[in-house]
Amino acid sequence: MIKKIGILTSGGDCGGLNAAIRSIFFRAKNKYNMTVFGIKNGTTGFLQRPIDYVELTSETFSGYLLKQGGTFLGTTNKASTINSVDQNGKLIDQAQMIIDGYNQLKLDGLIIIGGDGSMQILQDLAKKGNLDIVAIPKTIDNDVGATEGSIGFDTAVQVATQALDNLHSTAVSHSRSMILEVMGRDAGHIALSSGIAGGADIILLPEIKYSIEGIINKLNKMKKNNLKHSLVVVAEAVKKENGKKVIHEYKDGQKRLGGIGEYIANEIMLKTDIECRVTALGHVQRGAAPTHNDRILASAFGVYAVDLLQQKKFDRMVAWKDRKVVDVPIADAISTYKNVERNDALVETALSLGIYIGDIN
Ligand code: F6P
Repeated sequence: MIKKIGILTSGGDCGGLNAAIRSIFFRAKNKYNMTVFGIKNGTTGFLQRPIDYVELTSETFSGYLLKQGGTFLGTTNKASTINSVDQNGKLIDQAQMIIDGYNQLKLDGLIIIGGDGSMQILQDLAKKGNLDIVAIPKTIDNDVGATEGSIGFDTAVQVATQALDNLHSTAVSHSRSMILEVMGRDAGHIALSSGIAGGADIILLPEIKYSIEGIINKLNKMKKNNLKHSLVVVAEAVKKENGKKVIHEYKDGQKRLGGIGEYIANEIMLKTDIECRVTALGHVQRGAAPTHNDRILASAFGVYAVDLLQQKKFDRMVAWKDRKVVDVPIADAISTYKNVERNDALVETALSLGIYIGDIN
């Protein structure tokens, strides 16, 4: 009998996480009378002694949580949660500590809300420690396979589209080329969707090869047609022409993508008389209030995930398919990374709209 379950959010936050937690709680409580524990800060909560968790109650959700970005449970986006060494360089078996934490709480199951990286980590832990898990896909990058939708993507695209709308007016006022750098890790979904929705002239994706010459040809063509302003969207993992990604390294050794927008702007300004300005949207895409689509998807996923636990269908991920919530093996989601493909309908759409998206026809 499943009587007590845990929930944790893992990896980068996004719009819709609170909506998912809320939905899990009400399904678990109202339909099955389960006790629900929210584990704080991803797997980190299981590493604390005493374990860092809260018991969820109806009161937890009496405020505005549904509408708020982020995750009130907290999360972590560091692989080092599992692979950590002590001051003497000795490996700490944090995996076992997390498993012990799960067992100490006497959980009958755990719902993890995460992207492919988190799912991989949690699946390994589940195998090692016999944990009973169910996963809900969330990521602004929209790169989780085996589902047609993940929580957070719609909100990120909405933010990026709004940014393009705002940039459009100032681009026109100053006859400038406004460059918007968006997140997405190695997938160009946010760039492609927001670029189409926001009327971009150029969209650069990690999956499709571009050239500075191609960009400049497009801008010159626009100029000939008396269009002196332009909007360029560039995904953060787009490489320089020499094939190198632009990466920022932080003091603690963590590396993150960022800065390709400045490179593109400099190249355009070096080779033309077009004035460019760059906006790197960054975490604004992650922290926004969730769109109605993300709130709805998260709510539907939450209900289904609890039902999976109740039926003891473990090691499954809820997924969106043909307007329905379904479930698939977590392994399928991890092994089928989904980035933009040349034959995607949106690639053809962008081309038909005359958008330069690389050196393809
Ligand atoms: O995977 C989500 C994401 O927002 C990526 O798009 C981005 O590259 C990365 O996380 C940023 O990570 P962090 O929040 O750790 O800076």
